[in-house]
Amino acid sequence: MAHDSEDLKRLAAIAALDEVKPGMKLGIGTGSTANAFIHALAERVAAGLEIIGVPTSERTAALAGSLGIRLSTLEETPELDVAIDGADEIGPGLALIKGGGGALLREKIVASAAKRFVVIADASKVVETLGRFPLPIEVVPFGLGATTRAIETAARALSLDGPLALRKGADGGPYVTDGGHFILDASFGRISDPERLSEVLHTIPGVVEHGLFVRMAAIAYVARPEGTEIIRA
Ligand code: A5P
Repeated sequence: MAHDSEDLKRLAAIAALDEVKPGMKLGIGTGSTANAFIHALAERVAAGLEIIGVPTSERTAALAGSLGIRLSTLEETPELDVAIDGADEIGPGLALIKGGGGALLREKIVASAAKRFVVIADASKVVETLGRFPLPIEVVPFGLGATTRAIETAARALSLDGPLALRKGADGGPYVTDGGHFILDASFGRISDPERLSEVLHTIPGVVEHGLFVRMAAIAYVARPEGTEIIRA
């Protein structure tokens, strides 16, 4: 049977429902694969499953709420059992690039608040080395030029070179995250040491967060036309 990428996202989402048990407090991701999960979860909720969801974006909150999923916040519900989210790239050791949908900061906070972080994706997201997908870096609007230069300098010290593009929104102005920040998409190419790059980016004032999720994911459900593969960290 032919599968397009939407079918595969749905298959990964449905497989990840195995992670969800009654009474759980659940982090809910952002993006098209996370949306497939939200629809699958909503069907279970309609059939009587009781869970509380903590969304990673305003978009996810709107969709999940509209489908009848009970929602909370990390203020009310600071400890989560599981967080389930998509990824832009899945590299060795389940190191991830996330943030293509612009929700990386809340996604990382929610994933960190969960005992178990679960990734769902179609097989196109699995790579041998991270970096084909530009790395989203969330920055404070104040001092944008200086922060951009500091990122470039720090990256060059790690032999990473490549343009940083300020992400644009639908109105042609800078894309603004749910937290009121901007995103620089860094085309560094191959990121052979994501952990080191993560550490270095965190030292730069003005960088709020970045889309490298290293040593966070416990398991990935990766849907392929021939079946769903489970990858453990
Ligand atoms: C949102 O900010 C992202 O981290 C998404 O999880 C990621 O971009 C994957 O999105 P898709 O499931 O739409 O590919």
